[in-house]
Order: sequence, then structure tokens, then C-alpha cells
Amino acid sequence: MYHLHRTCRACGSDRLVPVFDLGVQPLSNDFRKAGEECAGFAPLKVLFCSRCSLAQLSVVVRPDILYSRYSYVTSTSQMMRDHFSALAADIFQESKPKSLLEIGSNTGNLLAYFQECGVSVYGVEPATNLADGCNAAGIPTGNFFFDTESATDIVKARGRFDLVIARHVFCHVDNWKDFVSGLVQIGHEDTLYCIEVPYVKDLLANLEFDTIYHEHLSYLNLGAMEWLLRDTPLQIHKVVPYPIHGGAIVIMLRHRDFDPIADYGPIVESITEESWSDFEHRCNRLILEFDSQLDSLRHQGKRIAGYGASAKSTVWINFLHLTRNEIAFITDTTPDKVGTLSPGSDIPILDEGALMVEKPDYAIMFAWNYQREIVAKERAFLAGGGKFIVPLPEFKIIG
Ligand code: TMP
Repeated sequence: MYHLHRTCRACGSDRLVPVFDLGVQPLSNDFRKAGEECAGFAPLKVLFCSRCSLAQLSVVVRPDILYSRYSYVTSTSQMMRDHFSALAADIFQESKPKSLLEIGSNTGNLLAYFQECGVSVYGVEPATNLADGCNAAGIPTGNFFFDTESATDIVKARGRFDLVIARHVFCHVDNWKDFVSGLVQIGHEDTLYCIEVPYVKDLLANLEFDTIYHEHLSYLNLGAMEWLLRDTPLQIHKVVPYPIHGGAIVIMLRHRDFDPIADYGPIVESITEESWSDFEHRCNRLILEFDSQLDSLRHQGKRIAGYGASAKSTVWINFLHLTRNEIAFITDTTPDKVGTLSPGSDIPILDEGALMVEKPDYAIMFAWNYQREIVAKERAFLAGGGKFIVPLPEFKIIG
């Protein structure tokens, strides 16, 4: 189901030091119906590269197991729509693309956005259910993984692209060198590449340990990206921060010939083994506080639910060994998740209406990255005496 990861995927060093351990966990998006067999369990441990500072998981779960039947769909929330318009505006400032390739295009929402702006679009999406949906909706999408081999086929069939976007895909990829070769092949000297990733500095600062799961093989820092791009025709052109998903950056890459004197600004990174041990101490404090709060509410006889069956929820639940005794159910807006069970704990996933039907005393906001939007949407729950437990980025109770 997985293989051990021994050398840094950015710089090739074998000096990888364990810095954070979440134990053995189920796959965080392995939502199954009752009676269906689960995909299995794998260690969730972070190794730190003492040469380029890249944090990376100690194992690589087989991608066909993780992605062939994928329940994660990009949110259609207002926050995500705002993000797409901000991203598109920043891209149009840089470039006037006629063609766009999106790698990991998921439900095709971003491609549809660019299609409406008159750009010719093509998506690559390994999840068959998602690729089929896009093609049916008129968004041309290939159902395979992106690598040098598929890049060659795409170029033969469709030519090269002016703009390449990969949102939250890069950190899911094991073989970065091959991925970057594919990027080089698919573009030309004027191509703008936009690689959106969660930023490890935000993860460390905001204690986002729940974004560490098997799909996220790496926790990217710019120093590691620079190492990776050595000896390739690409270089970092610009880095743009966005608030989406608890803090992300878009690393814009350009061909060295396009921008021979690229200077992407004064980004200072000092990510060390100590940053990770400090993170571990602060996470342990947070988890202890969260756990004792749940314990105390349970002893008071309060009924607790979860809000948002995010992959993050699976990490919290399994690390704390929570069961149906602590969390009665979790609500979620994703049709494919409703009626399934939370991986590892079998807590049932109900549709979002369940919150007002079941009226739990507390709902743990596992989709904490949409906090503002959720609080605005669930005014009736709060008005009826319900309370939200928000675990991150600051542990608090609303209501
Ligand atoms: P994400 O943080 O990885 O996008 O996952 C968020 C999950 O939370 C996803 O399964 C959808 C769900 N969700 C809700 O159930 N209600 C909401 O209002 C929002 C914004 C998300």
C-alpha cells in the first residue's frame, strides 16, 4: 500500500530527520459506506531535510489507492470563488494567456472561470468520477496523472500552453523531478506556471497539524523549490500569498530566458529542526486543551457533532482516538461524503441539514478554514443555543 521515503525529493539528500509523528492513521479521504472495506492504514510521520529544509512524509501511499476514487471536491464556497477571482486577476496582470492547462483540475470550477474569460482550457484529473463530470459539462479533461509521459501525449494532441496552473497538487506528487520535466515540456519560453501550495511557514505558525495527511507528501518551503529548479530551465519569478486553506502561496515560475534577472523579493525563511520541535510542543498543548474541553462537555452530558468532514477532521479524530461516543455525527455539504463513515472512527456523515434537525449542543468546526462563512450561514444554529468549537487557527468557542 505504501513505500518508505528515504531521500529528499527536492535536493536528493539522505539526511532526513524525523520531526513530527501523528502515529498510524487511515487515509484521510477514505470515506466508505458501512460494510465496504477500507483502504488501510499507514504511518503519518514528518521527516525534515537538513540540507534544504523540506518537510516530507516518511511514506508514500500508492497514488492509485489515494486518488482513483476521490471524494474531495473543491469547495464552491464564497471564499473559494473570491480566491479564484483574486488569482485570475493576478494572473491576468502577468500574462494574457490564450490557452490554459490545469493539472489536478478536480471539478473544473477554475477552468470554467477561465473558459468564461475566453481562454481555451484543458484539464488533467486522475479521479475518473471528476474527469467524467467535467467532460459532460463541456470542460475538456484528460483522465490520467500528469508526468513527463502524459505531457508528451498532451503536447502531441493539443500543443503547448501559455498558462499552466496546478493548485494544491504539487505537494501530492512524489517524483518532483519528473513533474518539473513535464512542466518544461508542456510550456514554451513565455509560459507562466502557477503552482499553488499550502505554505509551511503558515502551517508552523498556525499549528495546522491537521493538514498533515497521506496525500500531502511535502510541506513546501521556497528554499527547497530553489534546490529543485537548479539545472532546469525554470526559476521562481514571483511568490504571491493568499489566505485560502489557512495560508497558501502561489509560486509563479517562468523560463529563465523569459526573465533572466528574476528577483522574487525579500522572502526570508528560517525553517529549522527547532521550528518543528517548537511546533510539536505548541500542538501538544493545543490538543490537550481541545481534548480536556471535549471531556468536560461530555461529562456535562452535552451532545457534540462535527461540522465539515474535511480530511483535517480525520486527522483530529484519529490522533485523539475519538469515536461516536464523543462525536455523534459530522455534517458535510459534499454529496459523495453524505451517507459514508468517517475513516477510522466510523462516525456517520450526514447532510448539512442534520445540524438543525439534530440540534447538537456543540459542533466542532472541522472546516475551520471557512469559519467566517460558516458562522454567517449557521446563524439559526447559534440563535437556538448551539455553539461552535473552533479548533484552529485559534482554539475558541463561538455562541
Ligand atoms: P476543505 O477544507 O479541505 O476544503 O474541506 C472542507 C470540508 O467541509 C468539505 O468536505 C466540505 C465541508 N464544508 C461543509 O460541510 N460546509 C461548509 O459550509 C463548508 C464551507 C465546507
